[in-house]
Amino acid sequence: MGFLEEISKRRTFGIISHPDAGKTTLTEKLLLFGGAIQEAGAVKSNKIKKSATSDFMEIERQRGISVATSVLAFVYKNKKINILDTPGHKDFAEDTFRTLTAVDSVIVVIDVAKGVEEQTEKLVEVCRMRNIPMIVFINKLDREGKDAFDLLDEVEQKLGLRVTPLSIPIGMGYDFKGIYNIWEQNTQLFYDDQKHIIGKKVIFDSVEDPKLEAAIGTDLFTTLKEELELIDGVYPPFDRANYLNGKLQPVLFGSALNNFGVEELLNCFVEIAPEPLPKLSEERMISPYEKKFSGFVFKIHANMDPNHRDRLAFVKIVSGTFERNTPYLHVRNNKKLKFSSPNAFFAEKKKIIDVSFPGDIVGLHDTGNFKIGDTLTSGEKLNFKGIPSFSPEHFRYINNNDPMKAKQLTKGIDQLMDEGVAQLFILNLNGRKLIGTVGALQFEVIQYRLLNEYGAKCSFENLNVYKACWVEGNEKSTSFQEFKRIKQKFLANDKAGQLVFLSESAFSLQMVQEKYKEVQFHFTSEF
Ligand code: G4P
Repeated sequence: MGFLEEISKRRTFGIISHPDAGKTTLTEKLLLFGGAIQEAGAVKSNKIKKSATSDFMEIERQRGISVATSVLAFVYKNKKINILDTPGHKDFAEDTFRTLTAVDSVIVVIDVAKGVEEQTEKLVEVCRMRNIPMIVFINKLDREGKDAFDLLDEVEQKLGLRVTPLSIPIGMGYDFKGIYNIWEQNTQLFYDDQKHIIGKKVIFDSVEDPKLEAAIGTDLFTTLKEELELIDGVYPPFDRANYLNGKLQPVLFGSALNNFGVEELLNCFVEIAPEPLPKLSEERMISPYEKKFSGFVFKIHANMDPNHRDRLAFVKIVSGTFERNTPYLHVRNNKKLKFSSPNAFFAEKKKIIDVSFPGDIVGLHDTGNFKIGDTLTSGEKLNFKGIPSFSPEHFRYINNNDPMKAKQLTKGIDQLMDEGVAQLFILNLNGRKLIGTVGALQFEVIQYRLLNEYGAKCSFENLNVYKACWVEGNEKSTSFQEFKRIKQKFLANDKAGQLVFLSESAFSLQMVQEKYKEVQFHFTSEF
């Protein structure tokens, strides 16, 4: 198969949802329909149970699983599907944001009873900002939930999307009879005994089929016809160009647990989802069809075995082919590296691969060369944009509890920060190290990993910080100099050396913004 054909076959996407909406179940069912696994239950849930905040074994177990399920690839209808897994737990939201830089489209899963939830809002906002094409899957139709049209309204209003339903449920919960598939223009009825297997379908090709009325009853039949008319009148018709531009989001309904609507989702996905998209670097736009290789690191996973300290860096291939044992330029370090055993992913397994194409993810063994956001190329000096850090929510000083292990602690902190576990800030005033995280759980992970992987003991000390803002100012401006002098106590540098203002409250931030108009305060590290 030629290079062009290989690229056009790839579909790389992520599934996002609020925890418990059914992301894991849907992922598993997609693999099942894709023929990549034979039975349900093969892909373990990689969510950290809410109760497990102090259970380190649980954290370790989850880390192990999440390597295995980081990328799940399979072939369906001659398309190579790469699902990039995203952690569901909100404390790991930053991980999810980073993974979203490597997807070409997403599927958003929403629980029919709960509707649009907080985590969905945050993640969809990131996708919306980047115009990532989205398909919405409304799950758990076998349960009593909200009215389909109310949900479509909610998705439009809360998520700021413009939707068009491509299927519509017939009944719900106890009365759930199936779906009318607007995309394929047929009806598929639901029988409870299909649970957990890929059951035989009952399909009616026309909504006028009298057998359909007999099967679902006159009331539901009448409602269905009315609803289809309503959809015709109210919602815009599906338009692939608008979907690809992030201007229109198709919605499908189903029940992942019951294998219902999943095959329809997959069929629709392979037809409409984008192949690998061009990506912007600081220097220029890179097309996947360029012959020369380029890619970037969006995730780093440390080895759980303390005897093998190497890490796995996940690289999304943007252009050209990535080949084993070929030297590539690590742009930040200006160093050539070659990889003798790059991993590719298939279902939940990984294996050594000789060549990979745009859209694919390769896992590279790394002894500490990489950090998140690094670019690799065939030689050109490119830097891919778009993996910014956001302000952490929690801030704590990190103290060394074992003076004999100061070196190990520094190394451990450095490496964990490169992996993107948390952010490090160094206070200007006294050089103290401050760790910022999205969730409180990360502090436990850091403490545990520093001890187990680096032999370093640390403790944390709370610091009241409302937000970290990246600061930009003209060194020649007296106002900027005054700001730096007066607020020195609240200034720090991030790991890249950028100046950061640590505001104590929303009020104090507002005050400095008003007082120092020439200074710019940014809420992400990339501006
Ligand atoms: P997540 O990854 O988004 O966090 O969700 P996950 O797939 O783990 O699903 C959360 C719960 O919702 C699970 O139940 C799962 O079985 C259930 N679920 C998923 N899809 C459907 C569906 O279509 N219908 C119904 N009724 N339930 C669904 P659990 O009891 O929390 O876990 P488990 O013990 O079943 O694994």
